[in-house]
Amino acid sequence: MNVVRAIYPGSFDPLTNGHLDLIERGSKIFEELIVAILRNPEKDPLFTFSERRAMLEQMVSSFPNVRVEIFEGLLVDYAMKKNAKAVLRGIRAISDYEYELQMALMNRKLQPQLETVFMMPAEAYSYLSSRLVKEIFRLGGSVRGLVPELVEQKLREKFTELPLESK
Ligand code: PNS
Repeated sequence: MNVVRAIYPGSFDPLTNGHLDLIERGSKIFEELIVAILRNPEKDPLFTFSERRAMLEQMVSSFPNVRVEIFEGLLVDYAMKKNAKAVLRGIRAISDYEYELQMALMNRKLQPQLETVFMMPAEAYSYLSSRLVKEIFRLGGSVRGLVPELVEQKLREKFTELPLESK
C-alpha cells in the first residue's frame, strides 16, 4: 500500500487551537501525520521541548494516525529520513504567504521530491499566533478559546514559576 506520510513542522511554543485545527484537517487527508517540533538552539522558547511535546501528545491522542516527534537540522533531511512525501503548513492570511512560499520553494530546491501542502485553518483562527497568545497571557488578557484548556493551564503554571524580571 502507498502510505502518504506528511510532516507538520513548527515551533508550537505553545500549541494553539489554530495548530490543532490544521492537525485535524491534515489527519483527514494524509494516512500518517508527524507533528515535528523544531529543536532550535537559537530561539529562546517559553516551553521546553519536552513540555511542548507532552502538551501536543496529549492533545493529538484522539487521532490514531498522528504522532509527535522532535527534529533538528534541515527539515528536508528529516522528512527524507522519515520517508515523508509532503510537508504540511498552514496559511492564515496573505501576510503568511511570502514567507511560506520562500520556505516551500527553498525546500523544493533542496529536495525536489518533497511537496509542501498548504491548508487554511478555520477563519476563527486566522489572526491567531503563538507569539500573540504569549503576549496576551503575559499582560493579563484572556486566551480562552485560542488555546486548548491544557495549554492555558500550563501557561498559568509557567508564568507563576518564572522569575518576576522575565515576566
Ligand atoms: O512554527 P514556525 O516557527 O513558523 O516553523 C518554522 C519551521 C520549523 C518550519 C522552519 O524554521 C524549519 O523548517 N526549520 C528547520 C531548518 C530548515 O530546514 N531551514 C530551511 C528552511 S527553507
